[in-house]
Amino acid sequence: MKRLRQRSARPLSGEVSIPGDKSISHRALILAALAPGPSLLARVNFGADVQATARALTKLGATCTLDEANCKVKVEGVGWAGLSEAGDVLDAGNSGSTMRMLLGVCASIPGLTVLTGDASLRRRPMLRVAAPLRQMGASIDGREHGNLAPLAIRGRELAGIEIELPVASAQVKSALLLAGLNATGTTTVTEPAPSRDHTERMLRALGVEVRTAAGGVRVNGGSSPEPFNALIPGDVSSAMFLVAAAAIVPGSDLTLTDVGLNPTRRAALDVLVQMGSDVTWTETSSSLGEPIGTIHVSCRPLRGVEVAPELVPSLIDEIPALAIVATQADGDTVFTGAGELRVKESDRISTLVTGLRALEADAEELRDGLVVRGPRALSGGEIDSHGDHRIALAFAVAGLVCPDKVRVIGWSSVETSFPEFLEILGEATR
Ligand code: S3P
Repeated sequence: MKRLRQRSARPLSGEVSIPGDKSISHRALILAALAPGPSLLARVNFGADVQATARALTKLGATCTLDEANCKVKVEGVGWAGLSEAGDVLDAGNSGSTMRMLLGVCASIPGLTVLTGDASLRRRPMLRVAAPLRQMGASIDGREHGNLAPLAIRGRELAGIEIELPVASAQVKSALLLAGLNATGTTTVTEPAPSRDHTERMLRALGVEVRTAAGGVRVNGGSSPEPFNALIPGDVSSAMFLVAAAAIVPGSDLTLTDVGLNPTRRAALDVLVQMGSDVTWTETSSSLGEPIGTIHVSCRPLRGVEVAPELVPSLIDEIPALAIVATQADGDTVFTGAGELRVKESDRISTLVTGLRALEADAEELRDGLVVRGPRALSGGEIDSHGDHRIALAFAVAGLVCPDKVRVIGWSSVETSFPEFLEILGEATR
């Protein structure tokens, strides 16, 4: 298994450009497949997760041609009517977004679809998507009554529903909205707190009516997007690892360009401000209904904060990076309302706290979050990412403030979302 050996770095400085957003890339590929005609996407995230979505769509009849050198993908969209039974199993790899959103798409494709994934994904809960899809008329089976992949889907005609989700999840919401586009009637999804709204923004940008009412989103059956050409915003979740590094490595002063600044994704920046960080951001353009801009951050003394639970859905993927920042802040940083972390690519509460303690940080697990007490001088050591890209990246950042080496086991997991990390870090520390 590939390991990273990271040690304390020079300050991060200058300007770096951030590769395309993973969440938005998945959605752009799926919507381009549902559009009747060719679409061209630029600055696509070329991590393994998005490539899994592209391969699956190709198997369903919407050929995706990848130009990796230029981060472009051409999608031959075939519309709902053109998608057809795949001749093989669809393998989502490590990607929860691929599996959950394709469940929503495949629920109404005639014939049989079998969806599987790697060992981590085959442990993650799918009933949260399968159960509401069944209410729409879908036929989905799998281990634990359809909770665990491999999942078998028999395409059926679907009817729209009104549903209140028990947990805020953009993957679940998106799966249901996608299914709703090819159902009869309307589909309304309400969440306990706002999760990332890329699907809604993109649908609107592509001419599909999406209404919002009382915390819910509604789409009409019989809708499909128009073919489109678009530039994917840079991934703010990937950017956060570099922002975190610049916030804690003394002497840093870094500018990150082309970053997506969707308000449902950038709450980690607000938390850094609360911690006293010198971080600012400016919107400069937009694409697919998403604001894009520049983040500027420099290192300065930080204080611990209590992160408001209602912010958690908008920073759920950034908690690993924020936890590393918290080790260098004065006082306690407390994350609660983050129980969803236990069902991510790893149990992120446990993998984070175990890793932090291995570096002699003061951290404690809570049922639905964690506490980090700082500031602490971190020691070197070995941490196991459990094959989780965000854990591996977070501890690579920790290594930048350790005098001794930090070894990250399972480093190759960064291929799923941010294969360019070390190269961009290299540019920033040259
Ligand atoms: C994602 C939604 C989030 C997030 C994941 C990507 C998406 O998951 O953690 O990395 O693209 O919709 P949940 O929907 O399970 O909260």
